[in-house]
Amino acid sequence: MRTSRTTLTEFLRNELKGHANASDLTELLEEIARVVTRISHLVARGGIDDITGKLQSENVQGEVQMKLDVVTNDLFIDAFRQSGIVAGIASEEMDSPLSFPEGRDGKFLVVFDPLDGSSNVPVNVSIGSIFSILGAPNGRPPEDNDYLQPGSSQLASGYAIYGPSTMLVYTAGHGTHGFTLDSATETFFLTHANLRIPDTTSEFAINSSNARFWEVPVQQYVEDCIAGSEGVRERDFNMRWVGSMVADVHRILMRGGVYLYPRDNKKPIKAGRLRLMYEANPMSFVVEQAGGKGSTGREQIMGVVPQLVHQRVPVIMGSSQEVSLIERYHRDFDSGEAEKGYSPLFGERSLFHKMQ
Ligand code: AHG
Ligand code: MN
Ligand code: MN
Repeated sequence: MRTSRTTLTEFLRNELKGHANASDLTELLEEIARVVTRISHLVARGGIDDITGKLQSENVQGEVQMKLDVVTNDLFIDAFRQSGIVAGIASEEMDSPLSFPEGRDGKFLVVFDPLDGSSNVPVNVSIGSIFSILGAPNGRPPEDNDYLQPGSSQLASGYAIYGPSTMLVYTAGHGTHGFTLDSATETFFLTHANLRIPDTTSEFAINSSNARFWEVPVQQYVEDCIAGSEGVRERDFNMRWVGSMVADVHRILMRGGVYLYPRDNKKPIKAGRLRLMYEANPMSFVVEQAGGKGSTGREQIMGVVPQLVHQRVPVIMGSSQEVSLIERYHRDFDSGEAEKGYSPLFGERSLFHKMQ
């Protein structure tokens, strides 16, 4: 069925006009769309081709790899190497960054999570891919330190979600836009231009089984949400947790909400589960360009200066007013004004609530 919808290529040519590297960036995003299309076909075949299982290997994160983690990683590496415009890459699935001599004049570095939500592969629940496009050094091959750029330096970022439909959502700093794959023609059509996240929400996403390990401000925030209309929030909340950051954040882009993967002291050495460079930063850029916020609870995620390519960071992102409120829980706690049982909203509620 012929549609009058705008294609990704048509949209990019128009949206990136005036961008410093418009034509190369268009070509890179189209290359990513081609890899996403191939992954979409692979994922849609599920267990038929025996690629939904686990490998014996562990990645640099100390996590058992899924076959699809490695297959998707290889697809992205080949595409970026052959593009001739990518000088180097870093991936969740690789110990160290990889420079491409073929891309010696390449303008871009790409940092990516080839398969996000891997644990959902065997159970056929939505998964994704996440990418972050950074500037490459001029006139020399990239070194490891060249990847350690704060999220505010990203030229573009985005994700694919392999769900009931496959979508590609990206930003190049001029809004966040969503495209849906027509698998019959292998064409991405614009279906969600200029996405906007509602500023307020009554829905949060967190893995509550870690509650005893969270910091007090997060415990208090979640407790207040669960208290619903009988507590300081004076309304009931809903909870969702897919186990794929891409799926949870995509839902938030579509209808609002807040996603939390906070620091927990289950493994004190880790500052949370998610990685700054290829999960927190790219998803923050997409969210903030849609009017949302991305915070560690104490600072903007995209302001964090990276020390290591695989470093982890606490992640709180989504509806701007809800993220700001959660930052306030952290601020009040850090300032010593608050201890367990305190909520910043007490001050704004009638005396009645204080008495309860
Ligand atoms: P990945 O599969 O790339 O390691 O990412 C999984 C992340 C994120 O996508 C998801 O929200 C979170 O891990 C789920 O963590 P839990 O399994 O601890 O809930
Ligand atoms: Mn991930
Ligand atoms: Mn992954």
